[in-house]
Amino acid sequence: MTGKTPNDELSPLPCPHKLEDVDLFSPGAPEHWYEAYDILHKEAPVYRIPGEGFEPGTDAFVLTRHEDIASVVRDEERFPVITSAIVRQLVEAGGDPFEIPNMNMMVASMVNLRPNPPLWRSHRQELTDPWVGPGAPRHEPMVTQLANELVDKWIDKGKVEWISEFAMPLPQMVMANVLGWPMSDLHLLKYFGDGCVKAFVYGSKHNCILPDEEVVSQQAVLKEFRDYTADLIAEKRKQPQEDMISFLTEVEYSPLKRKLTDNEINGIVYAMVIGGLETTLYALSEQVQLLIERPGVWDEIKQDRSKLRAFTEEGMRLRSPTQGLSTRITSQEEEFQGVTVPKGSYLHLRWAAANIDPKEWDDPKELKLDRKAGTRHLAFSQGARVCPGATLSRVEQMCAWNVIFDRIGEFRYGENNTFMHQPGIMLGTLALNLEFDPAT
Ligand code: HEM
Repeated sequence: MTGKTPNDELSPLPCPHKLEDVDLFSPGAPEHWYEAYDILHKEAPVYRIPGEGFEPGTDAFVLTRHEDIASVVRDEERFPVITSAIVRQLVEAGGDPFEIPNMNMMVASMVNLRPNPPLWRSHRQELTDPWVGPGAPRHEPMVTQLANELVDKWIDKGKVEWISEFAMPLPQMVMANVLGWPMSDLHLLKYFGDGCVKAFVYGSKHNCILPDEEVVSQQAVLKEFRDYTADLIAEKRKQPQEDMISFLTEVEYSPLKRKLTDNEINGIVYAMVIGGLETTLYALSEQVQLLIERPGVWDEIKQDRSKLRAFTEEGMRLRSPTQGLSTRITSQEEEFQGVTVPKGSYLHLRWAAANIDPKEWDDPKELKLDRKAGTRHLAFSQGARVCPGATLSRVEQMCAWNVIFDRIGEFRYGENNTFMHQPGIMLGTLALNLEFDPAT
């Protein structure tokens, strides 16, 4: 079987057929996102959500055109990032942001380490690039070994639950290795990671708002995360090893001409955990479905492995893991596609829709292994704030698929798949039963 059983009847939200039906954020919406994008592109590429702006009385706007989103992420003056505004307020307020109750560790660490664009750049170049940015390719042997170990566990069975037995554990194990997180505590990495991304999964509306009681339970998990990481940093200071946390305890950060504090390192670990686990999981989950559903692609890659990179980029373009984020506001009145967007509006950047925008891409829904400049997709965003872990994720995807193509004949769907997704703003298939023969 190559096709999917329609899961329409399982979704609490019917498939949209006209603009009035479009709802990207209610329970069940992920089952129909791509039908909704077609309608938005045709009828409302700048889609207003009344009353859901950043300030009371203002609106939010969902942007779906590639050119609009690309212009937003390239101009921080006109379209400031919301966390930067919060960081500016914290800088002005003075005091120690880590002492503020329930403060997000990543945001608190930004106050000292990257309060402005030049320091944002230094932070990336000096602190994260060596591990998850341009330095990430040195992890290839480690990632390949981990992918092989996972495949060893199920290859003899001829079937696999792809999410729990491959796509989820691989990025967790990779991140644990990069950070220097004990493998025996991998379950805690997942538990803390789930706590970090809780709003992106269970939050409501375009800006992922959690109910108060959920915020309280999330804070409890994040406090455990902070304490666990503090102990880990203390251990690394005593006994440094070849890992990112040890590196962060030793490196001198040039703009501040000093080493990092424990809390600052804690904030960087938070950033790696919130960004580095779920996203690559979703990329791998969608790519396996594309391989099953697009006949011929498997054989084409099998015959010419140099096409793998194009496949992973097309995969992220066609089924973007992070579908959209409300991270920018307008600092002045703007116009997109003839629609006036007032100052102070919230912008929800819908990366996934931009990535299939028919004004930007020829045959936008085709998977083309020879697409020109395919990496101009916005799955990782672009500009100064582009995802700092993009290279690590690409390394993970390439190593994972190389191992799979070496060892597996071809995947097909197994029994009992609903193809349902988790709620929220990420494209997360809940479970995926696959069958296969080993490679000959
Ligand atoms: C397929 C995998 C991934 C996707 C689709 C993805 C996507 C994104 C997107 C769209 C943003 C927002 C950028 C903006 O607002 O302009 C972002 C930011 C971010 N990503 Fe990723 N990401 C992925 C993997 C990773 C990995 C592996 C890491 C860590 C190792 C990571 C860490 C981060 C962090 C920390 C940020 C916030 C910006 C910052 O603090 O510098 N991401 N990512």
